[in-house]
Amino acid sequence: MVYGARTGVPLGLGLLLGLSITNILFTVDEITPQQCSNFDSEQPNYVDNSEHWKVHLERTISPPANSQVQSGKVARARFAATELGIREKLIVIVLGQSTLSVALNTTIGKHVPKVHVFADISRIDADMSALGNLSPYKPNGQHAHVHILNGIFNWTYHQNYDWFFILPDTTYANPFELMRFVNSINWNEPKAIGRSDSEDKCILQAGILLSNPAMQLLIQQRHLCNAIVTTSDNTAFEMCIKHVTNLSCVHTYQGHTFQWWQVKESGESDSAIHDRVQWFSSSREFNMSLTVSPLLSELDVVSLHEHFVHVEISRIDEEIAKITEEIEGHSEEIDEGPAWPVGIPSPIKPPNRYQVPIWEYFTETEIFKNEPNQNVRPLMGNDALDIREIVIAARKKVEEDFEGFDEEISDRFDKQTMEFVKLRSGYRVFNALRGMEYVVDLEYKKIPLEEAELDDEKIILKRIHLCRPIHHTKLLHEVPYVKEDTDITLVVPVESGDHVHAARSLMVRHLHLCKSESTVDTRQTRLVIAVRSITAFSVRELSDDLMELKKRCKTWTTDTALLLLRPNNELMIEAAALDEAIDHFGQQMIYVLLTPHADYQREFLDRVRINTIRRFQVFFPIPFAEFNPLIVHADQVLNKIAANRDSRNHPNEPNLQQDTAVQAEDHEVSLKLNNRESLNERLHRLNVAFPPPDPLKQIKVHKDHGLFDSNDFSMVSLYGSDYLAMRHRFEEKFAEGAKLMDLSSMFLGQNEVHMLRAIEPGLRIRYHPRMCSPDLATADLARCMLSQKQTLGTKAQLANVVFSNLEELNNS
Ligand SMILES: *[C@@H]1O[C@H](CO)[C@@H](O)[C@H](O)[C@H]1NC(C)=O
Ligand SMILES: *[C@@H]1O[C@H](CO)[C@@H](O)[C@H](O)[C@H]1NC(C)=O
Ligand SMILES: *[C@@H]1O[C@H](CO)[C@@H](O)[C@H](O)[C@H]1NC(C)=O
Ligand SMILES: *[C@@H]1O[C@H](CO)[C@@H](O)[C@H](O)[C@H]1NC(C)=O
Repeated sequence: MVYGARTGVPLGLGLLLGLSITNILFTVDEITPQQCSNFDSEQPNYVDNSEHWKVHLERTISPPANSQVQSGKVARARFAATELGIREKLIVIVLGQSTLSVALNTTIGKHVPKVHVFADISRIDADMSALGNLSPYKPNGQHAHVHILNGIFNWTYHQNYDWFFILPDTTYANPFELMRFVNSINWNEPKAIGRSDSEDKCILQAGILLSNPAMQLLIQQRHLCNAIVTTSDNTAFEMCIKHVTNLSCVHTYQGHTFQWWQVKESGESDSAIHDRVQWFSSSREFNMSLTVSPLLSELDVVSLHEHFVHVEISRIDEEIAKITEEIEGHSEEIDEGPAWPVGIPSPIKPPNRYQVPIWEYFTETEIFKNEPNQNVRPLMGNDALDIREIVIAARKKVEEDFEGFDEEISDRFDKQTMEFVKLRSGYRVFNALRGMEYVVDLEYKKIPLEEAELDDEKIILKRIHLCRPIHHTKLLHEVPYVKEDTDITLVVPVESGDHVHAARSLMVRHLHLCKSESTVDTRQTRLVIAVRSITAFSVRELSDDLMELKKRCKTWTTDTALLLLRPNNELMIEAAALDEAIDHFGQQMIYVLLTPHADYQREFLDRVRINTIRRFQVFFPIPFAEFNPLIVHADQVLNKIAANRDSRNHPNEPNLQQDTAVQAEDHEVSLKLNNRESLNERLHRLNVAFPPPDPLKQIKVHKDHGLFDSNDFSMVSLYGSDYLAMRHRFEEKFAEGAKLMDLSSMFLGQNEVHMLRAIEPGLRIRYHPRMCSPDLATADLARCMLSQKQTLGTKAQLANVVFSNLEELNNS
């Protein structure tokens, strides 16, 4: 919508402008091409004719009110481009004689707006007839140009292009130079550009570039050429152009020169162009040439094209290098100094005051990570390796680059007099634009040269900034277009009593969601529960619930199904469920794998439809994981008791928190607790007043009620076909022995489908005790444990519950 409006307004304005201009133009005498031909090529450029124009404003008689509808109609040209006089830049017209024209079409066709081939019908072979842009003609005793000019007229090409480049198929045109040439000169005067012969005619062999006014002239008066009779078609065409337009051929125009590389016969047997390209390329002129001729074989075309593509690439590389240098030059003059990578802000400066990056502090033995529940960890594993490498790199940098020390100490730094002591400390942070950033402080000590200096031990501190850059970044130029009308299948695997309970709550919520909807959604949403190793009774319960759901969920086109999985406890239930579901419902659909504890909102399903793209992207949402409600509630109760006590101690201060609810709760929690009770007892006691679990109770997305669990990859949405394409990778991981926690590793380390990982507030996980099997692969186990710990509650809540001295609270 917004895009439509944005393009629509300028387009509409342009149309209006164009309309008024055409109205004005047609009231003036029509300018015929004959008049145009009076422009002499010697005349100064850009004559301003506007003062001779008279503008008649024709006042339309206002029509009677009942004919209003008709008056709104305007005779329109078919295309806005025609109306506004917008043309394509260039057409290349090839006089085809052999399959060389096919080679020309395939090589230069990609780089110019249009190629059109005209060929004598008797010369067209099977290869040529495959060309879509071919116009055959029957000579009937006339020269080729007669038919070609007629053809151009028939196709109205003379009106639709700024420039016309005519060449025989024995000439190669360098499309890059050609485009640069026509883009940097004006087309508004009749011009014939090329290489001239002794009679000032343009030589067709070199290629002839005609401007639009010149071509208009040629087409209007083409009958003048019908009588030309000469030895060859090419000469006849050259004569025709000269005769009709009376233009002398120029090879330099507005500062740009038409370079033709004419290959001389060398007389040797291996004189073919493709053998000599290498040799030619030592000449600068050859690299800049616009046309090369004569070609003898398709191999010539291909090797020339390859060469000129290389020339173009090195030219672009040079330009990039130049721009890079310029940017570096500019950045020297900016306060922050040169940035790396060029043009990207330095890591030290936070993007704004809300997004201050949090650095991790480390020493030689410990690291302080940004974790909610643990401050310091011993430096080991990957972190230790990482920091060891960084220190080595930093030392190398310091010790090579000793100049910096000159000012600080009197003598020159060198390896003989300075000794590395230790890493004092450092910081690191991940920056998604750049990579891992480090700041390290290294301690150096001066080695005393003589005995006397022994106690003069001086520690020198050197601070180094380092970056471990991201090497493989890829810009996504084109993301496939997605529509939001896809059907989706929600797959919920169930394999225990807890799961059954959770899945039934999930169905209650699903029903609630679709009942709260007022409009009918025609997209299909299917809910599939895949069960394994649960009791027959539970199966029946689930199946009854599903039937009920299907019956009552009217606003969503809901289908439901219960899949019974084969009892194979080896295979993860998630994979087994997806296998079975895709087998049942086909590959051309989005499958959303959910845990039974999932609690989704409608927006989540919409985002699934946008974020899941066939053969391009799978979506692993980061869900909001609910904290243990018992701990959250206990913390709230304790806070209320504390607030109550405070207000009792300071009765003069008004306390808004002291309401009746608090008093009631205060009363219910029997406060005769003692310090020696177990944590469970304490939790239990504090939760006496806790309301019974309600599947419909909303989980608040708030930091005190849960967290976005970035370790959780349990839920994914993908196309069935993408899953099957990656299934073998899962098989391979599986064969390695270790158990996997989820399907994420299936999509890691491959280039075919992207993984989208994004925070998803519309997807929550109800609290449930997480089990981490010790058989899990190391990384998975670590993730599982983190999830397990972090989803209990915040550090403050846990501390409050564990350390609050209830008795003291009570007595005071
Ligand atoms: C001719 O060139 C056009 C444009 O690049 C291309 O689409 C077409 O396939 C080419 N035709 C042949 C027969 O190669
Ligand atoms: C141009 O069009 C006319 C009439 O449609 C037709 O007779 C003639 O053969 C065409 N000429 C060419 C070269 O296509
Ligand atoms: C052709 O141009 C030349 C000068 O460029 C001029 O002298 C001559 O009169 C022109 N011929 C015609 C027929 O316009
Ligand atoms: C011409 O271009 C080729 C390919 O880029 C390059 O190797 C060669 O050095 C260039 N010649 C000159 C004279 O610049």
